Amino acid sequence: MINIERVRADTPATSRQAYLHNAGAALMPVAVVEAMKHHIDLESEIGGYAAADREAPQLESVYGSVARLLNAAPDEIALMENATVAWQMAFYALPFRQGDRILTAEAEYAANYVAFLQVAKRTGAAIDIVPSDASGELDVDALERMIDERVKLIAITWVPTNGGLVNPAAAVGKIARAQGIPYLLDACQAVGQMAVDVEAIGCDMLSATGRKFLRGPRGTGFLYVRRAMLQQLEPPMIDHFAAPWVSRDAYRLRDDARRFETWENNYAARLGLGAAVDYALDIGIGPIEQRCRMLADRLRGGLASIRGTRIRDLGRAPGAIVSFTVEGYEADAVVSDAAAAGITIGASDPSSTRIDAEIRSLPPVVRASPHYYNTEAEIDRLIAHLEALTPR
Ligand SMILES: Cc1ncc(COP(=O)(O)O)c(C=O)c1O
Repeated sequence: MINIERVRADTPATSRQAYLHNAGAALMPVAVVEAMKHHIDLESEIGGYAAADREAPQLESVYGSVARLLNAAPDEIALMENATVAWQMAFYALPFRQGDRILTAEAEYAANYVAFLQVAKRTGAAIDIVPSDASGELDVDALERMIDERVKLIAITWVPTNGGLVNPAAAVGKIARAQGIPYLLDACQAVGQMAVDVEAIGCDMLSATGRKFLRGPRGTGFLYVRRAMLQQLEPPMIDHFAAPWVSRDAYRLRDDARRFETWENNYAARLGLGAAVDYALDIGIGPIEQRCRMLADRLRGGLASIRGTRIRDLGRAPGAIVSFTVEGYEADAVVSDAAAAGITIGASDPSSTRIDAEIRSLPPVVRASPHYYNTEAEIDRLIAHLEALTPR
């Protein structure tokens, strides 16, 4: 059981607003803020290089923390400035040729999809979209039928940015493993919200961000690359940290996932990320997942009975992102109206998930994303607020 009073005390802003925007950027716990402040103070006192030296063990332990979160090994982790760069490093390291196929899902995130388009344009590779089943989840049988020797990558988003869908990441992994096809998983909205076990999932590469359900600082993210895959991946860009310059005409790539990093980093943010991961692990991902779902289900239950409000989530067991539209109101208007009432929520534009949005003719949707530190009362407050919107 999560001690709600304690986690809310660790998150002072929860006393001032109902913060339900965790799919955008969650509120950081005090431990995260303090870890960053401490390091910045140290940098201002003794200089950035000495500060990094002094904090070297703590900085090193961030790899261990992220590895524990994912059930991976520390040498399979690269710390990055966001999820997009993490994903790009893996994706652009893969070789594609004319006729190769990239399989993805309907809810793929825009940043990933435009990269597919660029590589398709450059190489002649094809992008094939695996259809969804009746529930809206990636159709695993359809994926299996689409596999042939030309498929060089399966790359999907586990939990999309625009709703509660949770794609069957482990079932996809089973197929990828059996067929020996590289599998890149965007776990940006999953980490910190639900259990993420790269062994159980069977992905070769996984990208995620720090600031969303993980409650870390902005400008942090990480990449996991399975050890067996590492040696096959030459990063698309390197520096002398990723690949030390060992003789005039030669560099040698690092053996570990840090071959995807560069020399200069925001160490305060890294320590904040580490503190966020430790904080989540300390609470327990199991209880976090359970409470996130309970709160999201409560919200869906309430929304279902409001006339003119339509829930837009897909999948058999949607997670903590609750997407909906309100008849007569633009999504942005719902968001600003809620903000005026002390309730922070967000919106998701069709251009973030264009394929899914086009298939379902989605307008911009309102996105409310509770976390474990929210209360039932806050959920009910949002429901009551939406009920009171004048029908238009
Ligand atoms: C599903 C998904 N993937 C990737 C990203 C990109 O993450 P970042 O902004 O850290 O690069 C987002 C951000 O909203 C996302 O929702």
